[in-house]
This record gives sequence, C-alpha cells and structure tokens, in this order.
Amino acid sequence: MKKKVIIDCDPGYDDALALMLAFGSDELQVEAVTTCAGNQTQEMVYTNAKRLIKLMGAKTIVAPGALKPLSRGLVTASSVHGETGMDGVDLPDEDIGEIKSCAVDIMADIIEKSDEKIILIPTGPLTNIALLLSIYPHLKEKIELISLMGGACNGGNVTACAEFNIYVDPEAADIVFKSGVPIVMSGLDVTHKAVIYKEEMDIFGTIGNASGNAAFQILQNYYKFYSQHTDLNGAVMHDACAVAYVMNPEIFECKDCHIDVETKGEHTTGQTVVDIGDKRGNGINAKIAMNIDKEALMKMMYSSISRLL
Ligand code: BDR
Ligand code: CA
Repeated sequence: MKKKVIIDCDPGYDDALALMLAFGSDELQVEAVTTCAGNQTQEMVYTNAKRLIKLMGAKTIVAPGALKPLSRGLVTASSVHGETGMDGVDLPDEDIGEIKSCAVDIMADIIEKSDEKIILIPTGPLTNIALLLSIYPHLKEKIELISLMGGACNGGNVTACAEFNIYVDPEAADIVFKSGVPIVMSGLDVTHKAVIYKEEMDIFGTIGNASGNAAFQILQNYYKFYSQHTDLNGAVMHDACAVAYVMNPEIFECKDCHIDVETKGEHTTGQTVVDIGDKRGNGINAKIAMNIDKEALMKMMYSSISRLL
C-alpha cells in the first residue's frame, strides 16, 4: 500500500526535484502540496508549485500557506534560487489568482478524514507545520512521522550555526521539535553527502521528457550557485533526502537524539542543538540522518523522473 504524504515546500530548485522524486514514485501517494514562504515569497513559491505540478502532469491539491514566519520578517534565499525561486528553468504558465492562505486547514482536513495516519514532509521553514500542530493539536496522533529537511549537527549554511529552513522560522521549528510527533531530521550532515556532481548531471538530460529537461536545467542552475559559493562541485539534494527517507529509510543511517532549537541566541539563532544519544536525559524527540547511500538516491530520482510527463 502506498504511504500517504503531504509535502510542505518552498520551490526552490531542490524542492522541485523533491517533488519530482515523490510524484514519480511507486511508494508515495501525495495527498496535497502546500507551500511555505522561504526560498521566495508565498506568491512565488505557490506559483512555482502550481507550475511544477502542471509540468509533471500530476493531479493533487496545491494550497498556499502563511505569508511570513510566526514572529519574524521573511528572509528569502534569492541569492541561491533567484528572484523567482526557479530562475532559468522553463515551466508551463499557470494562472494563480489571489493568494488565499488555506494550507493549514487543508492539511487538517486531509489528516482528519484519512483512515490511515499521514506522513508530513516539510522541505522549507516550518511555519505551516507549527500552525497545524498548534491549531489542531488533537491531530498529532494521526501524524505518523514528520520527515523534514532542516538543521545540522555542526555548522550552518546561512550563518555559522544555522541552516536556512530553521533560521527563517526558529520559533516554528521549536514548536515542531517539542510537539511529540515522531521526527526524522535530514539536515546538512546528510544532505551534504547527497551531492549530484557536475559529471553526473547529464544523465537527467537524457531522460527525454519535459520533467527530465526541467530537472537538468535545475541541476545546472543550482550547481552554478554551489560552484561559485562553496567548495562543492555539484548540486546538493537537500530536500530530496526528506522524501527519499519516506520512500526507503534503509538507504539512510540515523541516530536517536534530542534536538532543541536556539531561538534567542545572540549569534546562534536558528541553530539545532543536537544531543546524539540524549546524553543529558531530556528525552529522545527525533532521529537525525547522518549518512545516505547516494547512488541509491540517484537511481530513485532517475526512475521517478522517468515516470513523469
Ligand atoms: C534548504 O534551504 C533551501 O534553500 C533549500 O530549498 C533547502 O530546503 C537547505 O538549507
Ligand atoms: Ca526547500
């Protein structure tokens, strides 16, 4: 039986690849795609999500979420993903109309009505997920797992200590990590091992469908950023890790831990403080992914994208 998931994302290059991985998979049934402001404004990421769904020929609800983090102004990642969030990628046009933020109620409705538990896959800031857990706390028991991309054991990618998704809305992340819902965190520790190197990208250009062509453009554009600003000679599949974990957890090595989120640090706001093995006895509240079989991830991405339009 397929696993029922809701993907809350901010496309964004790597979110787009994560969506392709999910929609082309045999393992997942995507009940909805909801969008969170992060890599770009809500309007941009919602537009991109609608366009990607059309490109893939997928049928699902797409719902826009909060316009900004819980208690801060929005910080975007236009230096990584461009002014549209998907700069340089050819996507079909889509008429969006007025943004009516309904993601949280739509997630709640799907979870409430489902006979089986639902898995949430957030690949952006955790604003919508924190609102869901705060407004509908009785639904926590119907959430099997939150497989999220965010955080890190050591270091960050937006400040010395913080990873982007947690940095944008640390108060939301704090609510999620304290929620009691099972969590698997794919942070920079594992995603920096999920790099598609320059010489490995061409294969996606040979798939021959519209999604494969877009995936190839995404990889090229994403690579431009990483090659200019980091010593990684490739494109980092951050968000695909959160989807891949749900499809096949066996390709990951994980450790039990207690994770706190720094919300008040002078220099450390947005840091995930990861106590592997819960040495301080605060209670295990998450698993952290530390390693991935990258070849397996590449094969999963290739076969998913091959099944799309
Ligand atoms: C995360 O930040 C975003 O820019 C990416 O889409 C990913 O979710 C990586 O830190
Ligand atoms: Ca993202």
